Amino acid sequence: MQKTLIWDIPTRLFHWLIVASLLAQYATVEWLENKVQWHFYIGYFTLFLVVFRLLWGIVGTQHAKFSSFVTGPKAVLNYVKTLFSRHSEPAVGHNPLGGWFVIVMLVLVAIQAISGLFMTDDIFLDGPYRQLANEDTLALMNSLHHFAFDVLLYVIALHIGAVVFYSVYKKQKLVPAMVHGKKMSKTAGIADSRLLRALIVALICAAVVYVAIEVYPPTPQVDEYYY
Ligand code: HEM
Ligand code: HEM
Repeated sequence: MQKTLIWDIPTRLFHWLIVASLLAQYATVEWLENKVQWHFYIGYFTLFLVVFRLLWGIVGTQHAKFSSFVTGPKAVLNYVKTLFSRHSEPAVGHNPLGGWFVIVMLVLVAIQAISGLFMTDDIFLDGPYRQLANEDTLALMNSLHHFAFDVLLYVIALHIGAVVFYSVYKKQKLVPAMVHGKKMSKTAGIADSRLLRALIVALICAAVVYVAIEVYPPTPQVDEYYY
């Protein structure tokens, strides 16, 4: 057994930034007054984070890649059988069950950020895609924005519960590994975090989100009455 690098810096940064962003998204609509504009900006940033993670799941380092942790039902079932064993071999990256959990969380955050683009605060601010949609789509997006967040809260509670379970019951310290990136492993970890590649991917994702938010949507039609 040796201590090796498992989680690259971009994956760790992504994780803690998404935690901070979701907290801020909640705060800007539930705790703070008149901060909906900030809710929009942080929402765009969250969208960027999700798009980045999707791409990094394809071109990132070994354990960040979807191909390394999205497995078939057989592997998940075999893993579930060992779930309550205190002595089961710890997974190097995400375990087969946790891997699917990651996908569920990413999809929920994506639904949350995309549906937000169609929202309005009913006073001054419209999401950039509001003008593009008909009444039925707007109603659907509105329901999704409320409903997906409630589901997300349960999923996050389960996620944190799972992390505590691993740390207390199975004595596997997953949280420090998400901070410094290192785990005890029999096999060699990753050589480095591929920061230059991550920077290029981040720039591409920022450009995609910028075009989707600022360039593509038509400018809102303002009623002449207001002039
Ligand atoms: C808003 C709340 C949270 C969300 C949305 C969230 C989401 C995620 C996601 C998407 C991953 C996969 C990382 C990746 O491969 O990119 C992950 C992993 C992880 N998260 Fe969170 N997380 C949240 C809160 C927390 C908190 C508060 C902790 C610490 C107590 C935590 C600890 C971990 C750990 C240890 C892993 C790695 C699990 C493993 O080893 O397989 N998360 N989380
Ligand atoms: C992942 C990112 C996001 C999260 C976690 C999030 C979360 C939330 C939550 C919890 C609410 C309160 C819902 C309720 O009262 O039941 C809300 C409302 C809202 N969200 Fe988001 N949101 C996100 C992204 C966005 C984006 C990108 C936009 C617009 C561009 C947006 C626009 C709005 C608006 C206009 C409201 C209603 C505010 C009001 O009632 O004054 N959201 N969001």
